[in-house]
Amino acid sequence: MWTAKKLVRAYLDFFKEKGHTIIPSSSLIPENDPTVLFTSAGMHPLVPYLLGQSHPEGKRLANNQKCIRTGDIDAVGDPSHDTFFFMLGNWSLGDYFKKEAIEWSYEFLTSKKWLGLDKNKLNVTCFKGDKDAPKDEESAKVWESLGIPKERIYFFPKEDNWWGPAGKTGPCGPDTEMFYDTGKEACGKNCKPGCYCGKYFEIWNDVFMQYNKTASGKFEKLEQQNVDTGMGVERTVAMLQGKSTVYETELFKPLMDKIRELSREYNEKSARIIADHIRAVCFVLAEGKGIVPSNVEQGYILRRLIRRSVRHARLLGIQGSFTKEIAKKVVEVYSGDWPELKKNSGLVFKELEAEEAKFAKVLSQGVKAFEKIFKKQGKISAKDAFLLYQSYGFPLEMTAEIATEKGLKVDKKAFEKEFERHQDISRKATAGKFKSGLADHSEVALRMHTATHLLHAALRQVLGEHVQQKGSNITPDRLRFDFSHPEKVEKSQLAEVEKIVNDAISKKIPILKEEMSLDQARKKGALAFFDAKYASSFHYGLLQQTDSGQGKGQGTGRF
Ligand code: ALA
Repeated sequence: MWTAKKLVRAYLDFFKEKGHTIIPSSSLIPENDPTVLFTSAGMHPLVPYLLGQSHPEGKRLANNQKCIRTGDIDAVGDPSHDTFFFMLGNWSLGDYFKKEAIEWSYEFLTSKKWLGLDKNKLNVTCFKGDKDAPKDEESAKVWESLGIPKERIYFFPKEDNWWGPAGKTGPCGPDTEMFYDTGKEACGKNCKPGCYCGKYFEIWNDVFMQYNKTASGKFEKLEQQNVDTGMGVERTVAMLQGKSTVYETELFKPLMDKIRELSREYNEKSARIIADHIRAVCFVLAEGKGIVPSNVEQGYILRRLIRRSVRHARLLGIQGSFTKEIAKKVVEVYSGDWPELKKNSGLVFKELEAEEAKFAKVLSQGVKAFEKIFKKQGKISAKDAFLLYQSYGFPLEMTAEIATEKGLKVDKKAFEKEFERHQDISRKATAGKFKSGLADHSEVALRMHTATHLLHAALRQVLGEHVQQKGSNITPDRLRFDFSHPEKVEKSQLAEVEKIVNDAISKKIPILKEEMSLDQARKKGALAFFDAKYASSFHYGLLQQTDSGQGKGQGTGRF
C-alpha cells in the first residue's frame, strides 16, 4: 500500500536517480526574512539561488519541506486544503527546464516502476499568456507528446497558472499544474481543474521561474531559467489510496478518530478544521524556536489556530480540555520522521493547554456577548468586533466566521480598519503577511542581518567566547538575537556591546562576500553554530570581516 512514508522515499529516490541532491526541510520559521511569517514553499530558502547565487549542493536539488499557508485557512474543511502540509519539491537552478521537468513529473506519476497513477485521469493546466509573458505552448506541447490529449490540457490566466512572487518582488514564472480526477461527479457545468469541490485534486505544480518581478511591477527575464516544483504529500497519498479526502489517509485518520470519539454531535467540517489546526500548531511549537501563542506575528497565528479549534470543538459538543489528546496523536503519527515532536512534546502540550484554558474561560461569555449584540442590532459592526477581541480575545477572523455562519454580511475591510486603529504596528504587519509567501530581500533585512553578525561578535568580545548564537529573527522594525550565556547580562555590559556595534557600523567596513568550503571558512576564523542543516556544507557564502576580533582577523559567518 502507498503510505506517505513510501511516497516520500520514492520521490527522493527518483530525483536522486535524476542527479539531484537531497537537502533537508528548512524550518517553518524563516530565518532572517522579515517579509514572511512562515515558510510556505520549499523555494523560500532558495530565493538567492534562483536569482543566480551558486548553491553549494549543486544545480539539482530535491526535498520534503514542511509548509504553512495561512492564506488557505478559510478553505480548510474541504477535501484537500490544509494550513500545514508536506511538499515534495525538485529544483533546477539554471540547469534543466520545461521538457525534463514535465517528462519527469509524468514519469514519476504514471510509470509502474514509480507511482503508477492512471494517466487517463491526469488533467493539466498551462499559462494562457498576457502582456507580461507569452502563452505557454511549450509546456502544452510536452504534455501532448506524452499522450495527454488536448481536451485535458487547460489554459488559465495568471491567477491560476503563475507562481510567485508572493511578496512584492522576486523570482516567479508561469506554471503547469497536474490535477487528478477522483472520479467524483462534477459539481456543475463550470467544474474543471481548479474547482474546490473535490473532483479534481491538484497534486503537483511545476513552476518555470524565469522572471524577476521588480518593485515597479515589471517582469524582467532572469539570467537563468529555473524549475521549482511542489507536490502535496497529503493529496497525492489520498489519490494513491483511492480516498476522496486527505483526512482519510493514515496522516490524519488517528487524529480524526480521536476527535470523533470525543465528540457528542459530530460534524466532519469542524473535525477537519481541528485536525488540521492542531497538527500545524504542534509542528510550529515542536521546533522550539520560542514561538508561542501571543498577539503578534507567528504567535498570533498560533493563537488564532488554537482558538478556532476550541470553538469548533464546542460545536462538536466537546467540553473541557481536548487539544492535548489530539496533539498526542500528532506525536504518535509523525515523530518517527520528525523526532522534534517527541523531544519537545512537553512544551507542545503545555503551550496548547495553557492557550486552550485561557480561551475556554472567556469563550462562552464571548459567544453570549456576540448573541446579545446580534439580537439587539441584527448585525455586528467593526466596533463590536473589536470589543469582542478586547474583552474576550476573539480574533477578528473568528467574529467574522461566526457572523458569516449566522448569514450576516461581514465587511472585513471595515473590521481590519478598526483593528488597525487600535493595534500596534506588529499586528498590522501580521495582517499584511497573511497572504505572502515569497521573500522580498529588502535593504532593511540585509542591514539587520549584517547587524546580527556585529552583535554576535560584540557579545563574544564583552561576555566571553562561550557566547553562541541560538537563533535570530528579523522584522522591518527590529532584530531579535538569541544567544547562550549563563548569567543575566549587566546594564554596563549591554552598553559596551551597543557601543562596539555602533562604532563598527560608523566605520562603514566593507562587506566581503566569498564562497569557500566549510573547512576553509573555519580556518579563516568564521563561526558556525547552527544545527545539522549546515553541518556538511557552506549554505550561504557570506563571510564578513569585522574588526571586533581585535586584530585576530576573526569574522562571523552564517552557514
Ligand atoms: N512553489 C510552487 C508551489 O508552491 C512549487 O506551488
